[in-house]
Amino acid sequence: MNVGTTVTQFIIEEQRRHRSASGDFTALINDIVIAVKSIAHSVRRGGLAGVLGGAGSENVQGEIQKKLDVLSNDVFLRCNEWGGHVAAMASEEMDDVYNIPAEYPRGKYLLLFDPLDGSTNTDVNGIIGTIFSVLRAPESGGRPVATDFLQAGAEQVAAGMAIYGPQTILVLTTGHGVNAFTLDDSIGEFLLTHPDMRVPEESVEYAINASNERFWAPPVQRYIGECRAGREGPRGKDFNMRWMGAMVGDVYRVLCRGGVFLYPWDTKTAAKGGKLRLMYEANPVAMLIEQAGGLASTGTQRILDLQPDGLHQRVPVIMGSRHEVERIVAYHLEG
Ligand code: AHG
Ligand code: MN
Ligand code: MN
Repeated sequence: MNVGTTVTQFIIEEQRRHRSASGDFTALINDIVIAVKSIAHSVRRGGLAGVLGGAGSENVQGEIQKKLDVLSNDVFLRCNEWGGHVAAMASEEMDDVYNIPAEYPRGKYLLLFDPLDGSTNTDVNGIIGTIFSVLRAPESGGRPVATDFLQAGAEQVAAGMAIYGPQTILVLTTGHGVNAFTLDDSIGEFLLTHPDMRVPEESVEYAINASNERFWAPPVQRYIGECRAGREGPRGKDFNMRWMGAMVGDVYRVLCRGGVFLYPWDTKTAAKGGKLRLMYEANPVAMLIEQAGGLASTGTQRILDLQPDGLHQRVPVIMGSRHEVERIVAYHLEG
């Protein structure tokens, strides 16, 4: 019987095609997969496992933590610290770099993650996910510090996201396109279901939190205004809007059927640099979108070219179908 292509088989075969397969990278992805399966299990149990609601704490960014934020962060640390593939980790939910405990060997990769994206959706059975990014650790083999993580997104070795929705889906890139795998509960494996995903170049769908409209910059006001004007407006066609409150969900839809996802510069978040985090959200998701043929920009710069200046740095995000993002960038350049 052919069970299909597991994510492990896929990664091993991809490694054989593109680089020397030392096994380290495959083992790292395997540990990430175990973390994702464990988080998916807790998410699915929800109130039955007592994991809904607030944790009674705040993270480094002053955001209230949900129990699932804390649990998912711990699961990611425990699953990835022991194997010898990771030199250090950084997460949206931790103030500082997490160094591998002394009893474990330090590996050659740095792992960054948003353990639970869309955490305001946890208590309403909405879509949530996990986002991760893999960078190379410094070759010195020493104990990594925060500046070692401050590499441009273009340096990412791999990036991905898990989506805990009606199905549990893992979307992955190692720089050779984007593939998605669906968790088959009957055998406990992620199986390849969406090979070589491509973002359609044109689309009539956009995702933005419209309650922030009065804070947007003129180029974004113009773009969304033209979409809303529909058939009678300058675009000459009707647009549709979706907003899931979890970037993983909105971006997965963009990967499937195109459109744009925006959390743009606005006066409300300008003092912090934006809403979404460069290292845990914007970079890994930008890599997925670009590897699927789309574009990802701040409005004026390619996200993957940004030189990070802090682990918890925030940036404006505009990503999705190539022609739509090009148009929004052009509006920014026109001023
Ligand atoms: P997180 O739950 O990790 O803090 O991320 C939430 C992010 C992103 O996933 C989502 O698109 C956006 O914040 C939602 O922001 P609003 O609540 O302002 O709509
Ligand atoms: Mn997030
Ligand atoms: Mn989060």
